[in-house]
Amino acid sequence: MYRTHTCGELRLSDVGNEVTLSGWIQRTREMGGMTFVDLRDRYGITQLAFSTEVNDELNQKARKLGREFVVQIKGTVIERSSKNKNIPTGEVEINVSALNILNAAKTPPFTIEEDTDGGDEQRMKYRYLDLRRNTILDKLRLRNKVALETRKYLDSENFMDVETPYLIKSTPEGARDFVVPSRMNEGEFYALPQSPQTFKQLLMVSGIDRYYQIVKCFRDEDLRADRQPEFTQIDCEMSFVEQEDILNTFEGMVKHLFKTCRSVEFEGDFPRITYADAMEKYGSDKPDIRFGMEFKNLNTATKDKGFKIFDDAELVLGIVAEDCAIYTRKQLDALIKWVKRPQVGAKGLVYCKYNADGTFKSSVDKFYSQEDLQAWADATGAKPGDLILVMSGDTDDVRSQMNDLRLHMGDELGLRNPNEFKPLWVIDFPLLEWDEDSNRYHAMHHPFTSPKAEDIALLEIDPGKVRANAYDLAMNGVELGGGSIRIHDKSLQATMFKHLGFTDEEAKKQFGFLMDAFEFGAPPHGGIAFGLDRLVATMGGSDSIRDYIAFPKNNSGRDVMIDAPATIDEAQLKELALKIVEEQ
Ligand code: AMO
Repeated sequence: MYRTHTCGELRLSDVGNEVTLSGWIQRTREMGGMTFVDLRDRYGITQLAFSTEVNDELNQKARKLGREFVVQIKGTVIERSSKNKNIPTGEVEINVSALNILNAAKTPPFTIEEDTDGGDEQRMKYRYLDLRRNTILDKLRLRNKVALETRKYLDSENFMDVETPYLIKSTPEGARDFVVPSRMNEGEFYALPQSPQTFKQLLMVSGIDRYYQIVKCFRDEDLRADRQPEFTQIDCEMSFVEQEDILNTFEGMVKHLFKTCRSVEFEGDFPRITYADAMEKYGSDKPDIRFGMEFKNLNTATKDKGFKIFDDAELVLGIVAEDCAIYTRKQLDALIKWVKRPQVGAKGLVYCKYNADGTFKSSVDKFYSQEDLQAWADATGAKPGDLILVMSGDTDDVRSQMNDLRLHMGDELGLRNPNEFKPLWVIDFPLLEWDEDSNRYHAMHHPFTSPKAEDIALLEIDPGKVRANAYDLAMNGVELGGGSIRIHDKSLQATMFKHLGFTDEEAKKQFGFLMDAFEFGAPPHGGIAFGLDRLVATMGGSDSIRDYIAFPKNNSGRDVMIDAPATIDEAQLKELALKIVEEQ
């Protein structure tokens, strides 16, 4: 038997017992004739004590232990004279009688403790060592718990877990596919699923009226803190439901997860906002509502005072940073510089301090009198002591830039508390969005999303105005999940394809199997998918999903630990009938 207990288990009540422990050496400290060793495993740390007085040979052996050696010890549990209140095992230590080195270890490339000296790349390269650190392990523990509670909740709601294939063909999510060449079908490729979308709809045709799967999805897109090329969805679909049924079921799931995994209880229903309102108030379809700072329209308040930039702008927007009239020139210049960075892309930023004494000081005092600036304050709701920040331009641009600035101010003012959770359903997404490059409409969600019944007539007249039965769950500025009620009617699906610029052949080639299936009795259905990585990271209070994935990829999509992607040898290429063409 390698161990009788784990390294996180022993307490004062175990004093006097003979125990066997196994684990890794975290640290060795010599104090006079004594040697103290921290023995670590997944469950915690137990202090081992050796002394020259009791057994000099053993003590000398302990002094030679290197970091991360794997050892087994036997000994007696004793009460510690100087207790460590910071760890659960801190009141006891083991008076060691036998030490067995199970495996020596090379010196690790970084310290494996709460705080490490390892840089990002180094920790990614030796991810298996990083995972020995409790801070990282805690994140995987949370992930495990969330996945488990998801299964419990969905099972209790009659959802059935069904696996769907990974070697498939292009799915309709709109990102680039990862493809896999087929040896048996020369010149042909599978695409890895961007989601199980088409399969879950087929399962509805099969009569599995409540499906779920915790499933890997693959998308070849540019990476960000909240995006990985392979990520995990909690993917769900239901039959005989309307939007309201889906929102209720999954609001229930999210509440269950926060309660069981985070001890957070939400009061009442999650608030809802339409896409149009979200864009108008926050310039984002995933607003962070932990703080206010809503956009206020300043077109009327700024017009006709001779300031051409505002006069000519399609949209002039202001936000109020409370109690920030005390911002210094330097701080304001830094903000202006910040919005002008290419990532934000604003041409400039106008500020107006509403001083505590009731006077105004703006960067455009040449054009606007004190009374004019009072009108800005009235329009934005600013109070003495506040700072008004104003940007202008074309609607979409200025909304996007103002969204960036709002979130930046939220960060700067400490208004985005990672331990506060503010969910928000965003509903009534547009069905279609215009794509300048291809000069046609694209499905905003995917081509099977149904239009709102009352908007169908608009499809022919003003397609851009048609709203969809599509919804997202946003939390703390993150899109946690999204879904829609699907089209189950063949003629409506054909109309959709027509508007999306698919010819009959194209539609048939890509989605013929689904359209065929719909001829055999498709029930009304709809669904949603949550990004598990994002959900867990948000619950853990982090923006970055990487730490919550056991073996993540870096920003170039590489796994630096196993060194993938990699080239393959000539024989393998030949077998797959592939040739690598060097770029000229
Ligand atoms: P969607 O494309 O909105 O919908 O994806 C659902 C959720 O998956 C997460 N997500 C990602 N997480 C990490 N890295 C990525 N690259 C990434 N891309 C998406 C997000 C997102 O909200 N089939 C539809 C769902 C449906 O209609 O039922 C779908 O995949 O949290």
